[in-house]
Amino acid sequence: MTDVTAKIAPTSSEIASVRDLMRIVIVGHVDHGKSTLVGRLFHDTGSLPDGRFEAIKAQSEKRGVPFEWAFLMDALQAERDQGITIDTSQIWFKTDARDYTIIDAPGHKEFLKNMITGAAQSDAALLIIDAHEGVKEQSKRHGYLLHLMGIKQVAVAVNKMDLAGYDQKKFDDIEREYRAYLTSIGVTPTFVIPVSAREGDNIVTQSATMSWYKGPTVVKALDSFISGKPETEAPLRLPVQDVYKFDQRRIIAGRIETGRIAVGDELIFSPSNKKARVKTIEYWSTIPGAKAPTASEAGYSVGITLDEQIFVERGEIASHVETAPVETDVFRARIFWLGHEPMVLGKAYKLKLGTLEAQVTVQSIERIIDTSDLSNSASSQVERNQVAEVVLRSRRMLALDSFIDLPATGRFVLVEKFDIAGGGIISMDGYSDQRDAITARGTNITRAEHTITEEARAFRNGHKGGVLWFTGLSGAGKSTLAMALEKRLFDKGYHVYVLDGDNVRHGLNANLSFSPEDRTENIRRVGEVAALFERAGTLVITAFISPYRSDRDRAREAAGTGFHEIYVKADVATCETRDPKGLYAKARSGEIKDFTGISAPYEAPETPELVIDTASTDLEECLHQLVSYVEAKFRV
Ligand code: ADX
Repeated sequence: MTDVTAKIAPTSSEIASVRDLMRIVIVGHVDHGKSTLVGRLFHDTGSLPDGRFEAIKAQSEKRGVPFEWAFLMDALQAERDQGITIDTSQIWFKTDARDYTIIDAPGHKEFLKNMITGAAQSDAALLIIDAHEGVKEQSKRHGYLLHLMGIKQVAVAVNKMDLAGYDQKKFDDIEREYRAYLTSIGVTPTFVIPVSAREGDNIVTQSATMSWYKGPTVVKALDSFISGKPETEAPLRLPVQDVYKFDQRRIIAGRIETGRIAVGDELIFSPSNKKARVKTIEYWSTIPGAKAPTASEAGYSVGITLDEQIFVERGEIASHVETAPVETDVFRARIFWLGHEPMVLGKAYKLKLGTLEAQVTVQSIERIIDTSDLSNSASSQVERNQVAEVVLRSRRMLALDSFIDLPATGRFVLVEKFDIAGGGIISMDGYSDQRDAITARGTNITRAEHTITEEARAFRNGHKGGVLWFTGLSGAGKSTLAMALEKRLFDKGYHVYVLDGDNVRHGLNANLSFSPEDRTENIRRVGEVAALFERAGTLVITAFISPYRSDRDRAREAAGTGFHEIYVKADVATCETRDPKGLYAKARSGEIKDFTGISAPYEAPETPELVIDTASTDLEECLHQLVSYVEAKFRV
């Protein structure tokens, strides 16, 4: 075990000598002036090795060719390749504020692979597009790369403004079009800057020719971004590697991926959600008389004991209570596929995430990106060397993080027959952290027993209590059908009541939004209320989108055998044509965000008890199907 006391904190003089370092990725096409811009950045920030610029310039003159920044960058690259200067994959430049590392890769394939395996992790991105050419497919694909990486700090340099006559209108048009495109894929550019890399406009010095531009230069924009926090400053993540029994003690061993830990800290282990305090940090030392440490931090392997004997196992993640990881059984991932066999929709793979191993199935393949030309398409399988956006589901709860929040616990590999078949990064976009939905906080509570049985209630009512759980897109017809069915059943003597999304959201759930977590809570509450109605002997019809399978499964669990999932089926296109509340139009225009079916997911039921297809069946026929179903299932 490592000596954890040896390197706990840097000295103050060490701190003083450390300059802030930022890793940026520069995305753009060579033809759009990528090397020129990088060359300019180096030169104008004074980061080039002495005399190098003059040497290349002189060489060009001797050969009778105009000077190109690309020559200079190639020369630097060649030196780097021979190991003369710094690390091959990293190029550096300095500003007054800090040092920069540029993450670059020879091609998209390597780049995407590095990004997904974590070799190319960056804090911010500089995206280059060509003003002369305008917003073309190529630049859209480059923008898409940033979406894949989940990078939030983005500056766009609209290059070659010299060739575009330094024309403000041209720039404004490009800015508007490109911003709209990036926003549509979830990337918000912080700055869009008109530049001429060749002439040096707005790279380091403010352009005199484009005085109409009032924003920052490229360097100012980059300097304003926040660099990644050191791993020790991030929330604690200690994946449990093993639990050893030593004499009377249970020692939990693992490597601290991020954050710090100290004796006395209250820890929560996810996903078992057990809590205890750190009693000791164990320490194996060859130095006689060495004292056990009271704290440790990211990068060290430790063994800890707890103040309570709780059962935790390998694969769980220890964290502090307030900054615990996400708990979910479904997540979105961007994967790079390496398997000889393609990744197939519906197939199961072994997921390895830190020390955790779990089976996951491919619930959906949303999009495939071809790494040769970055084009994207739909398919039910992912071939070797393709990148894809997929949704993975596991049978049990997993503890994990979004890659952009915590890369160490936001990255995984998939294994097929002992081989690594793919690597991926997690995005919880559109999916909820289910921790709250599965955490019971009440203590010292005991159930009271009813003296009236469910049978007695059913006998008096002439029917059993139950839950008809309608799920489907907004506009699929859930409320319309629910209210009409309620009337029919009431007329037939049923004790029946509709819980409707829009209604319940005026009262019981008025404090909930449409965020994934709030939708989960919405459904949790309604599921519990419906279960109470059922036990009271009422037939309750619920009309909620209830977009997540896991939430509906929990509602089923709460209600028990009287739960019937009814898929009110109509595709997005049909619902959008109906658009009874005008919400689809608002969602399309961006006025409503996270709208189900447009910008938020809907997970259709896999095995509902009943499907009512409102796209192809008229209301009367749908009602007939529902009434017959109820009469058959609930009459006594
Ligand atoms: S759920 O997703 O949490 O189950 P719920 O059924 O309660 O949704 O509410 C859905 C209704 O809220 C829709 O029919 C629509 O009228 C309205 N609504 C408002 N914003 C949204 C949104 N972002 N996504 C879906 N529905 C929305």
